[in-house]
Amino acid sequence: GLGRLADIKDIIGSICQVLGRSGDLAGKHIVVTAGGTQEPIDPVRYLSNRSSGKMGYALAEAARDRGAKVTLVTAPTSLPEPVGVDVIQVGTAQEMRQAVENVTLRSDALIMAAAVADYRPLKAAKDKIKKGKTGLTLELECTPDILGTVKGNFIKVGFAAESSNLVENAREKLKQKGLALIVANDITAGDSGFGTDTNRVTIIDREGKIESLPLMSKRKVADRLLDKVVGLSEETIVYCSLREEPRIGFSKGQEPLFSKRKGTLILETAIGNITVSYNPKYDEFGPRGVSKWLKWLKKNHPELKAGDKVRLQ
Ligand code: PMT
Repeated sequence: GLGRLADIKDIIGSICQVLGRSGDLAGKHIVVTAGGTQEPIDPVRYLSNRSSGKMGYALAEAARDRGAKVTLVTAPTSLPEPVGVDVIQVGTAQEMRQAVENVTLRSDALIMAAAVADYRPLKAAKDKIKKGKTGLTLELECTPDILGTVKGNFIKVGFAAESSNLVENAREKLKQKGLALIVANDITAGDSGFGTDTNRVTIIDREGKIESLPLMSKRKVADRLLDKVVGLSEETIVYCSLREEPRIGFSKGQEPLFSKRKGTLILETAIGNITVSYNPKYDEFGPRGVSKWLKWLKKNHPELKAGDKVRLQ
């Protein structure tokens, strides 16, 4: 009520948020998912997993403390909602998908730390299923792959909880789901993965670079991962249409950054990446210089097609 001192955790959260306003994620919108989705069997039972939400909540708080606007889409957990974060509570994988699709429309990154159930009962019973004398067989269907199907111009980061072939399995998921980064969790150790306060992870990027981190708190893992997200968001990705007149579209907030940068252009095309050295004829990287340059590229690289991406490194 009025005049009552707020909870110490809330006060600390608010202070961290204010202090982080000019952090390296200021002006960015980061969407984080957390917890294990619950897929109903009947009104009282559900299928779920051991995710506590700790990893996702640590990420949400870390992103908030670095100045980001954060939306946390969370399946049920016993954790308090972080202060200064927009929290959307969901139950099922389908609800999580809907929420993620809505909030990523104008976001800069999606980090899916949630353990989304891979299967759900084909049909949830309307009434409580009575205990019978024989066993019960449930028919299951696949849930939607949220990360693999969500569309948009933002950095996608996935987690992979693995008990064997950590790196290979995670790398496969990174490729399948079109991710910028994947965080492979070793869930065989007692101090890492589901429910723990610490984690031992390996971060893999789409170029195949692997970084194995030692055991550390989930908050520290969150910060190490966000360092990589910051690095990626500093890379300028320009989407160009080469069908007719080459045109470029800058993603939100990247235009000023783009004109200041110099470097090598990597063209991501259907036939693989092509590195193109700087063409001194167009000696500026501003939007006009790049438009002229794209015309030159189109002429000299007829293999480029509409929708190919041009990445400035
Ligand atoms: O919550 P904690 O107790 O702190 O534990 C953390 C954690 C172990 C749950 C978390 O760090 C983790 O590893 N989450 C991913 C769990 C997992 O195994 O995901 P996956 O391998 O099934 O899926 C790979 C990626 O695709 C994940 O980012 C997942 O969120 C996403 N996914 C999965 C299935 C699905 N239908 N849609 C998805 O988007």
